[in-house]
Amino acid sequence: MTGKNTNIVRGGRFNDDPCELMQEINASVDFDKRLYAHDIAGSKAHCAMLVSQGIISEKDGEAIADGLDKILHEIGNGQFTFKRSLEDIHMNVEARLSELAFDAAGHLHTARSRNDQVATDLKLWLRGAIDGLDDGLKGLQSVLIDQASAHAGAVMPGLTHLQSAQPVTLGHHLLAYVEMFGRDRGRLRDCRRRLNECPLGAAALAGTSFPIDREMTARALGFDRPMANSMDAVSDRDFTLEFLSLAAIMAVHLSRLAEEIILWCSDRFAFAHLPDSLSTGSSIMPQKRNPDAAELIRAKAGRVIGSLNALLVVMKGLPLAYGKDMQEDKEPVFDAADTLALSIAAMAAMLRDITFEADRMREAAGHGHATATDLADWLVRVLGVPFRQAHRIAGQLVTRAEEKGCRLEDLSLDEMQKAEARIDDSVFEVLGVENSVKSRQSYGGTAPDRVRRAAAEARKRFLE
Ligand code: ARG
Repeated sequence: MTGKNTNIVRGGRFNDDPCELMQEINASVDFDKRLYAHDIAGSKAHCAMLVSQGIISEKDGEAIADGLDKILHEIGNGQFTFKRSLEDIHMNVEARLSELAFDAAGHLHTARSRNDQVATDLKLWLRGAIDGLDDGLKGLQSVLIDQASAHAGAVMPGLTHLQSAQPVTLGHHLLAYVEMFGRDRGRLRDCRRRLNECPLGAAALAGTSFPIDREMTARALGFDRPMANSMDAVSDRDFTLEFLSLAAIMAVHLSRLAEEIILWCSDRFAFAHLPDSLSTGSSIMPQKRNPDAAELIRAKAGRVIGSLNALLVVMKGLPLAYGKDMQEDKEPVFDAADTLALSIAAMAAMLRDITFEADRMREAAGHGHATATDLADWLVRVLGVPFRQAHRIAGQLVTRAEEKGCRLEDLSLDEMQKAEARIDDSVFEVLGVENSVKSRQSYGGTAPDRVRRAAAEARKRFLE
């Protein structure tokens, strides 16, 4: 051989090394080195299986396993030099292994390909990331439930169309997000369960002529079973798409909550106050306290949604089985997982230390004739007026209050009786915001004792 090729990936097929530009576009090690521990775990499981099936010798198996342990240690301690010329994490590990256990190392790649290897590695990594996000969301739910219990009776305006609708309690409002994050956790669980089949042993795409035991490697790596079809095993990226889909939904939930915090902390609402440690200032306007963390959480949803889009487009035209296009799956997955972990942590910190202005919220809850529905309900309940008609009468009284520039409960009984003669004094009992929320006793409703019970149930459902 006369060529300059020295690269273990290229083997005997090439005379020359790839040019700089080829390396630049082809190499993934800069980002896939994150998979090193999973790659080594996969290799160890594969190696143990090869030994147990008599495909490689025990001696070679031992040398490989020792070498892999050493590499794990080296990378963990920052003593490992990653080389772009070796393309990816798989070849970087294998090349080092051939230095540490020269005679044995060459046997490791028997009955295996980087195609089944990378799919396995990424699934293992994602399992860990899913568990981490689930923990993070659980912590966030716990903060929300604590705040909801503390503010179960705090009345605030409930809005629809961002207009005063009906008074609600802050506890009730916060528990709505506990439900959303509960569904996010359910989607994490579903994704984890469905991805938990092992690609290893599919080899390049067609399976292998060696008598491998795919059950054994699947079990060793904590998978429920091997994937049933070798072509599917190396070409499937549903697990990344499912993850990014649920990630996008989760990011949307975080963004909506961030938006509420931004509104609540604005000087128009002035319902809440973030501590100094979680606020930023302005370089020009000395009075400013900006909720930058909440704004960034709101913005980062754009990144996560973008990652989902990016990978859907990468995958949509790919014929079976593996295509190098699929190397582009990792950065969006890593970025979405990192972005969400940070957003969840920042959100939990803000909600832990936020202070609510209960008086100001209660005051605002009475604006906008927010108890007009209570008035209509009273007409139905006490006078037996059909709801449609009650709605009309209450509407007329709202217009009257508006004309006089007063609140609904400030209208005189006389005035009320002009709209409906049978109205009596007891109507005033339902017009205050406290009474309004107290009356919303239906399951899932906003009455303070309901909210207290709902918080206790949420603690059981989500935190135990
Ligand atoms: N770095 C590659 C990836 O991330 C590994 C698989 C490469 N397979 C191949 N046949 N070139 O997808």
